[in-house]
Amino acid sequence: MLLELKQDDGKVSGTFKSAGTSFPVQGTASGNHVILYGPRHRDRPFLEADLVNGELNSTGSSRPFHGTAAGPNDDLPTVAYITPPPIQPVPQNALAKTPPMGWNSWNLFARKVDDATVRTMADAMVSSGMRDAGYIYINIDDTWEGVRDAQGNLQSNHKFPDMKALADYVHSKGLKLGIYSSPGPRTCAGYPGSYGHEEQDARTFAAWGIDYLKYDWCSASNIYQEKDLQPVYQKMGAALHATGRPIIFSLCEYGLGHVETWGPDVAGNLWRTTGDIRDEWSSMIGNIEKQVPTASYAGPGHWNDPDMLEIGNGHMSEDEYRTHMSLWALTAAPLLAGNDLRNMTDVTKSILMNREVIAVNQDALGKQSSPVRKGDLEIWVKPLTNGDVAVGVVNLGATSAKATISPQDLGLHGPVKKARDLWKHATVNFTNGAYSAELPSHATLLLRISDKS
Ligand code: GLA
Repeated sequence: MLLELKQDDGKVSGTFKSAGTSFPVQGTASGNHVILYGPRHRDRPFLEADLVNGELNSTGSSRPFHGTAAGPNDDLPTVAYITPPPIQPVPQNALAKTPPMGWNSWNLFARKVDDATVRTMADAMVSSGMRDAGYIYINIDDTWEGVRDAQGNLQSNHKFPDMKALADYVHSKGLKLGIYSSPGPRTCAGYPGSYGHEEQDARTFAAWGIDYLKYDWCSASNIYQEKDLQPVYQKMGAALHATGRPIIFSLCEYGLGHVETWGPDVAGNLWRTTGDIRDEWSSMIGNIEKQVPTASYAGPGHWNDPDMLEIGNGHMSEDEYRTHMSLWALTAAPLLAGNDLRNMTDVTKSILMNREVIAVNQDALGKQSSPVRKGDLEIWVKPLTNGDVAVGVVNLGATSAKATISPQDLGLHGPVKKARDLWKHATVNFTNGAYSAELPSHATLLLRISDKS
């Protein structure tokens, strides 16, 4: 990595470069103390360090860093452009006929994930009842990657001493294991990506017993252009296909280049429609709104992905987390929990393991709902396989409001014969064809309605 800095009184600015990545940094210098911020995280320093005897050593809570002065011969190897293959559809796998369900390490653990965490999370997936509720994939996100050996085989780093043994352990629990890489030379967290090693990495993942790959654009943006997105993702899709192992292919490129129009052609099973979710109401609602324009492209085998769940991570209210779960169910979004499964409150369990809500998400018809807005109230209707509909009314407003569901909202063939409140687990009655309930701010009324008795 190279850090090029220029000081102007108390201000410091420059560039951080590593193979395939570079971004501007800026901050302050006071005495020998330097604080630098990158473009992605304005709220916490990218680097906080002291310059002593010409060497820069990190202090405070920033990442560990030791820098020595660079000489004129120090530069990063340039990364040669590898022309992506011509566009050719990859045979679709038979996976993800309903939205994938599981757990992913990033939202809570980020860089701190390791083998022990994954094993205990697999244990908790079973003991908490999550597995039996349908959550099957245990997905390791970024920061597992080590260095390549002399043959170019990517190895895991010290946090994951034996990935094959870990996969065996996860499989022994009736679960499946997911992993993460990038089409660029570096992942988003700066670890080695699959650039130039796509087939080899796919074979490595298959040999370890990996069942799911999240493939994150990251530093590929420094090498390729938007027109390359499809052939670059196709390269890994074809490489996974060639292994013969069923591996869910999760495209993570934040919705760039109309991914919904070509995702299935690269054998993608899901594709992100958004930037990264945060554990706050505005982020969660913002992500679900970005999920709407591509609704018609979702269906069995390939899904729009508004990012992982934050339920149970502590920064939204119970009503807001129920809304989070309701909206992910109504939009047929992948259900990848992002919380600590070893330590869940009863409320968190009741949200993540609400089987009636999960059934809406996992319905075989695979329809993604879109909203109709009525003031602060949004109405989402999702047709289900047996002719029922799920209907959600979300109160986006700051005060409570009266939610009314009327027949014209529902698209049913006949009058409502049966209706169930999926959060209260109770039957509700439609009077004169309509149903009303008082809805607190940010809460969701979620009903399953049938025109058959
Ligand atoms: C990107 C992705 C996240 C996560 C991180 C890991 O930001 O969108 O979901 O995978 O990279 O570095």
